[in-house]
Amino acid sequence: MNISVPRRVTKATAVAALAALALAGLTGTTASANPAAAAAAPDIPLANVKQHLTDLQSIATANGGNRAHGRTGYKASIDFVKAKLDAAGYTTTVQQFTSGGSTGYNLIADWPGGDPNQVLMAGSHLDSVSSGPGINDNGSGSAAVLETALAVARSGYQPTKHLRFGWWGAEELGLVGSKYYVAQLPTAERAKLSGYLNFDMIGSPNPGYFVYDDDPTIETTFKNYFAGLGVPTEIETEGDGRSDHASFKNVGVPVGGLFTGASRVKSSAQVQKWGGTATAFDRCYHSSCDTTSNINDTALDRNSDAIAHAIWTLSAGTTTPPPGKVFENTADVSVPDNGAAVTSTVNVTGVTGNAPSNLAVGVDIVHTYRGDLVVDLVAPDGSVYSLSNRSGGSADNIVQTFTVNASSEVANGAWKLRVQDKASVDTGYISGFKLTFP
Ligand code: TRP
Ligand code: ZN
Ligand code: CA
Repeated sequence: MNISVPRRVTKATAVAALAALALAGLTGTTASANPAAAAAAPDIPLANVKQHLTDLQSIATANGGNRAHGRTGYKASIDFVKAKLDAAGYTTTVQQFTSGGSTGYNLIADWPGGDPNQVLMAGSHLDSVSSGPGINDNGSGSAAVLETALAVARSGYQPTKHLRFGWWGAEELGLVGSKYYVAQLPTAERAKLSGYLNFDMIGSPNPGYFVYDDDPTIETTFKNYFAGLGVPTEIETEGDGRSDHASFKNVGVPVGGLFTGASRVKSSAQVQKWGGTATAFDRCYHSSCDTTSNINDTALDRNSDAIAHAIWTLSAGTTTPPPGKVFENTADVSVPDNGAAVTSTVNVTGVTGNAPSNLAVGVDIVHTYRGDLVVDLVAPDGSVYSLSNRSGGSADNIVQTFTVNASSEVANGAWKLRVQDKASVDTGYISGFKLTFP
């Protein structure tokens, strides 16, 4: 029996709250399917990456057989990549610089969103040497980074970090484009780069699987991916600092990357490990035969998927556990003082099979004396689960998530929160009722 004097919550408050909810259009039941917590990277389609290589080959063929700095084939390559990114929703910037008396171009593509103070960057040089079309060096990295950027757009990925992609000019003249990019980047902007991932030659025809030995987190992310495939890796040693990651590393940005080998010869131990022959990893390195025939599809495929894995993993930030499928009724229901039971209903749909053994029942009851209240969960078939039976004495409101073993109940149907006030004087109302299916 309750003998306390009513406090704080009045019927007027309850009515006001109800009116506010009605105005806001928030009454009634809502259901929402929530996204998965840590999104896995999508598979990068090899066919798409190869199509980009075919297009880069066509550009070289139409422009005197190369895509070198200062030649028409280079600018055509920039225009080609830029058009794809613009169509996919990227914010692109072409940055001009001068080297050897010719204009060079970097292409920067920002994916809108993410934390501007934590930028994850991936890039590759887009120029070839003048002696050939540069399909492995470095159409391969350029095409794989492009397709990964397009996969970000296709999946609508919204990572915690901001994503930025770069295609560098005049790498073959001494990392000129990437050095220019970091030199013009204000110190404060450099500090926001949480990592730079470099991809230069990732489809060598006689491939090795090399991971740069730089930032440990980036390195481990790549190694884990290949370990998952059962593909052994080695640390890259064929000329550290010979690609654009060096420009970033020199200003203190954590770097990493992948490489399948250039002119160095594959050892017999490496042939044991990876197959192929004890010849150069890329016998067409920097020559006219670096065409679309100069690509190992398996290496290109694995490395493309590894790029996506690293970008998804390293940009995710902290992950939250999946919130499950939520059904909620936020309409207020007044509970008559010392009167009949009232209910709030949620209609569960689209859940297969039975309810879980850990059904989360969110109860929000505003009341001036919870010891008056008998609160039950009523399953669709009428089964009753007691949540609170006049417990809690003179404490007020019941705002609590109860865990109910409802595994013998079919999930779909009308679930009710039933509340009865069994003693006079104190009053209140059901403010919310929520079921969460894991
Ligand atoms: N474009 C690079 C170059 O011509 C290729 C290369 C050689 C490379 N060794 C490397 C790329 C090591 C990355 C890592 O020098
Ligand atoms: Zn290269
Ligand atoms: Ca009462």
